[in-house]
Amino acid sequence: MEIPKNRDAVLALDAADPLADKRSLFHLQEDVVYLVGHSLGPSSMASIDAVRRCLEEDWKNGLVGSWNSAGWFDMAKTLGAKISGLIGAHPKEVMVTDTVSTNIFKLAIAALPLVNAKVIYVDETEFPTDQYMADSIARIKGISCNRVTTGDEKRALNSGGIYIKSAVGFRNSNRVNMKDYEEAAAKSGTLIIWDLSHATGVVALDMQAVGARLATGCTYKYLNAGPGAPSFLYVHKSLLSDMTTPLPGWMGHARPFSFEPIYAPTDNSSRFASGTPPILSLSALGGALSCFEGVDIHDLEEKSGKLGDLCVAMAESMGLCISSPKTAAHRGGHVSLELENAYAISRALHDQGFQTDFRTPSTIRFGLSPLYIRYIDIWNVLQAVNKIIKEKQWDNPKYLKRYKVT
Ligand SMILES: Cc1ncc(COP(=O)(O)O)c(C=O)c1O
Repeated sequence: MEIPKNRDAVLALDAADPLADKRSLFHLQEDVVYLVGHSLGPSSMASIDAVRRCLEEDWKNGLVGSWNSAGWFDMAKTLGAKISGLIGAHPKEVMVTDTVSTNIFKLAIAALPLVNAKVIYVDETEFPTDQYMADSIARIKGISCNRVTTGDEKRALNSGGIYIKSAVGFRNSNRVNMKDYEEAAAKSGTLIIWDLSHATGVVALDMQAVGARLATGCTYKYLNAGPGAPSFLYVHKSLLSDMTTPLPGWMGHARPFSFEPIYAPTDNSSRFASGTPPILSLSALGGALSCFEGVDIHDLEEKSGKLGDLCVAMAESMGLCISSPKTAAHRGGHVSLELENAYAISRALHDQGFQTDFRTPSTIRFGLSPLYIRYIDIWNVLQAVNKIIKEKQWDNPKYLKRYKVT
């Protein structure tokens, strides 16, 4: 991308942005540029209103009757159906439940009887929770768990086992060609469990088109559902009846209120539900998803790609080290820089109103959430990074204090 000549040219890009009006759906502070939507999306008016309504009307006045009258009982399914529209799945294939960690566990154990090679693969650069789960499943099942090094993915795809894989890498934003992966996996009988955490809401996912069969992803990042929001789980309809969750709670039973002693799952992905759903969190998710109504996911991907292109072009012109793919087609929704003194730089940025996040040892990630990030935000943050480095503003003892969450 050609870097705009000046600030006015950048503002012209924002003025021409077809998604610009979506920014007003969110609570954003005037003096903060929030580039952390890939970690925890900001709150929306709709989410806050939905939680308030849930507390002040449905719980306070409706009491237990709200399980019926306010749709609480079916909420996890209803919201799963909404998410299915964002990932190109059938509504009955998606449900909201538990965390990504728990869903990886459930999906992998349920998928194991369906594969010929009883073995699990996971990338050595994969998000840690995915690796921990893979190791634990292998221990419990007495099978082996193999780490995949970058460039050796074919070994996992040809194995005929289970491969846990992020569609977009959490560290460098590397985006996988899901169709190629699924085609290779289908040939060998491998089942891929996709981790869609860094892809959902920012990449034009199409589970049906790429032939994806199993997936989970979180809702607190680009979907903006709030801290600790539950994740979603996807099972292709052709596999549903063959998959049995290892955590068969009563909410996944076909007739939970008949209180039968023997488990009989539903015929859709809600068979992976375990216990009572977190209604307050689901309410926030419902509000958050309303911000995506009428938005074409391809437009989100396109804008995020352009924001990323600007970020990459500016970083390159400043001689900074970019660890994310340089072309939008190979990148997810964030751009990562590898910098000396990255932690201190991220704290100095924070002091100047730019919230980014740091991943040890040297990565700063810029989340390019297309519903509310502007081109001018990218312009400003890159100039700030450059100045902080050039003027050694990071070299201040207060920027060395490590917070628990970075
Ligand atoms: C790629 C990826 N997978 C899994 C997780 C963790 O998900 P959860 O906390 O819902 O288990 C994260 C959290 O940031 C993540 O980025």
